[in-house]
Order: sequence, then C-alpha cells, then structure tokens
Amino acid sequence: MAAPALSGGAMAALMQRYVAAMVLSGAGDALGFHRGRWEFCRSGTEIHAELKKAGGVKKLNVSAWIVSDDTVMHLATAEALAAAPGPTESPETLYPRLAWAYVMCMDDMDGRAPGITCMSVVRLLKLDQPDGWKTPFNPHGGGCGAAMRAMCIGLRYPHPHQLEDLIAVSVESGRMSHHHPTGYLGALAAALFTAYAVNGKPTVSWGKGLMEVLEQAKSYVQKSQHEAEQNLAAWSYFENQWKSYLRMRGIADGVSKPIFPKDYGVAERDKFYASVSYSGWGGASGHDAPMIAYDAILGSGTSWEELCNRGVFHGGDNDSTGAIAAAWWGAMYGFHGVPTSNHKGVEYQSRLETVAKKLFDLSHPSSPSEAKSDL
Ligand code: AR6
Ligand code: MG
Repeated sequence: MAAPALSGGAMAALMQRYVAAMVLSGAGDALGFHRGRWEFCRSGTEIHAELKKAGGVKKLNVSAWIVSDDTVMHLATAEALAAAPGPTESPETLYPRLAWAYVMCMDDMDGRAPGITCMSVVRLLKLDQPDGWKTPFNPHGGGCGAAMRAMCIGLRYPHPHQLEDLIAVSVESGRMSHHHPTGYLGALAAALFTAYAVNGKPTVSWGKGLMEVLEQAKSYVQKSQHEAEQNLAAWSYFENQWKSYLRMRGIADGVSKPIFPKDYGVAERDKFYASVSYSGWGGASGHDAPMIAYDAILGSGTSWEELCNRGVFHGGDNDSTGAIAAAWWGAMYGFHGVPTSNHKGVEYQSRLETVAKKLFDLSHPSSPSEAKSDL
C-alpha cells in the first residue's frame, strides 16, 4: 500500500529532518572526537569537567573542530547511495559503487583516527572485479566501523515496504569492512532506527522492532550464501546483548516506559556503558554503539543538550555513539532547540546538506527538493 501523500509543508519539514540527521550526525561526531582529545579520554567525568569550564554544550563552536573518520565514511555511504539512477537500483551497480566510495574515502583520513578494521579490510576490496566488494568472514570484525556510517541507509529506504532493501544494503555495506554479525548488525540497527525516527515510531518500540527484523536479516544472510555457516555460528552475541539490554530497561515488550537506575549520572553511565561493551571500551563495537546511542535517545526526550550529555560526552567510543545518536535525534526533531554554534559550520556541512536532500528526493520521488521552500 502506498504511503498517504504529504502536504507541501509536511514535505518541507520532513526534508529538513533529513538535513538535520546528516548535519547533526557530523556535529555529534566532531563534538565527541574533539580532535581525539575526548574520543580517547577514558573518563566521562573529566570530559564533563572540561565541558563545564568551556561554558556547557551551548558554548561549543563546532566550526572550529573537525569531523572524524565516522563522518567521512558516513558521507561515503550516503553519496554512493545518492548516486542511484532512480528510486530503485539493483545491487549489481550499488555494491561496487559503495566499495569504490569506501576505498576513495581512505584518502581523507589524516588526523581523523580511522578504525583499524575499516582501514585494513577496505584495502582488500577489489574494484576491478565484479564480486570484488565481498570480503572474507572476520572473527575480529565486530567493531562499530560498520554501524557508524549506516544511518543514511535508513534515510534512503525509510518506508516499511523497503525493509528488504534496508536489510540487504546494511548487511552488505557493513560486511564490506566488517564481515562479522556483531559488526554488520550494528549497521542494520543504525539504519533501521533512522528509518523508525523518520517515520515517528515511538522510541520505546525500536528495540522490539530490531529483535523482529533480526530474524529477517538472519534468513537474508542464510540465503545469500556468503560464508553463511560462520555468520550463523557468530550470530547470537549481538542478539543476546540486545535482548538483555531491552529486558534490563523494561522495554522488551515495545510499549512499557524505560526504567533507568535512580542514580544514573556521568560516572554511573560510564560504568554501565563499559559493562555492555565487548572489551571495556563502551560503544566500540557493533552491538553497543547503537545501544548506547539508543539509551541516550530514551533518556533525553527532546533535549539536545541531554542527548549530548548522555550519548556524546562519555568515556568510550563517543564520536561513534555521538554520530549515531545525533543522526536519530535530527531525523526525529530536526534542528529544534540545537544551539546554532553546535552545528553551523561543521566540517563538510554543504556535502552533508546536499546528500541529505538527494536521499530525500530518492525516497520521496513524487516531491523533488527543488519544489520545496528554501531551507
Ligand atoms: N565482537 C565485538 N567487538 C569486537 C570484535 C567482535 N568479534 N572484534 C573486535 N571488536 P576497530 P573499526 C572490538 O579498532 O570498527 C574510529 O575511531 C574491539 O575490541 O577495528 O574499524 C571510530 O571512531 C575494538 O575495541 O575499529 C571508531 O572508534 C572495537 O571492536 C572505530 O574507528 C573497534 O574495532 C571504528 O572502526
Ligand atoms: Mg572516529
């Protein structure tokens, strides 16, 4: 069934949310990264002390900072998706183009602290071969490098009838560098929750939705016959971690109000984020980067400042959790209540805006962006 037509005003507002998803994701990355100063700080308490000295979130001027590898790779994914010849495209043309974009973006990693798996596996992509975008299964490919660049997939395929595309493109783009379920299912979560955000699905139901979609993703991986056995053998970690998180927050049913600990300040959150991580570095893997971002979304409502406090300024992989959480937040609320200095002049602002509009046009073909009010 086709989605009901939106009015011109509603379309303009939705496109603005697309733009905010891309731009704020870059801002969340830059704020968390702080040229490596905060990404590599182990203590959220220290980061918050520095933040206080600087005058708080609203005083941070993102135009003076740079984005990290997360945004460079997110742009690579987004621009490859946006170069589609029309609203539908076959994997035969899309996947080689994504692989090409990942190889090319590696030239722009100076000073951006790229991930080890991203760097080493992208080198294996063979651009001159038809199946050269496929990489071997990797037991160490569970890092968050696939998740941190996948939010735009949800902007490209936001409609419920596009769920199969969203699953296939998340899994395949993810395993171009992270051929391990913990890695590429992180890409699926990042993309799926962006689509949910676009559609205004209540946030408490996102986790339950992911658990249902995982079953579909599993049959996709089984059918794709690309080292299916090893993938299925490694499948359960991501799923179990998520089930246990959703139970702990009391939202496995998708409707109950999330339950947070009574004391859940900066130090307690750091401890919790480390406890759900693979190796003690909260947010560094495919399962916990979207989990921490989701925890921040659930705990901050419509407050950008609180989202930053929880999802960006913590000890751990905070540029990646920040890039993911801020993309979802922007897809839901646009720029509403975000201090201008937190997003205006973010590095690559114009590329982020342009690609957001292209993704909007591709996913809403009846309403090209030129026809809409000036944003
Ligand atoms: N399951 C879960 N986690 C794993 C697994 C596994 N099987 N194998 C490794 N890890 P890395 P990336 C963890 O460094 O994913 C940028 O700085 C491992 O413990 O290969 O390529 C971004 O801002 C390690 O801590 O990175 C991100 O910080 C973690 O995966 C990062 O690079 C990250 O693996 C993402 O890129
Ligand atoms: Mg980074």
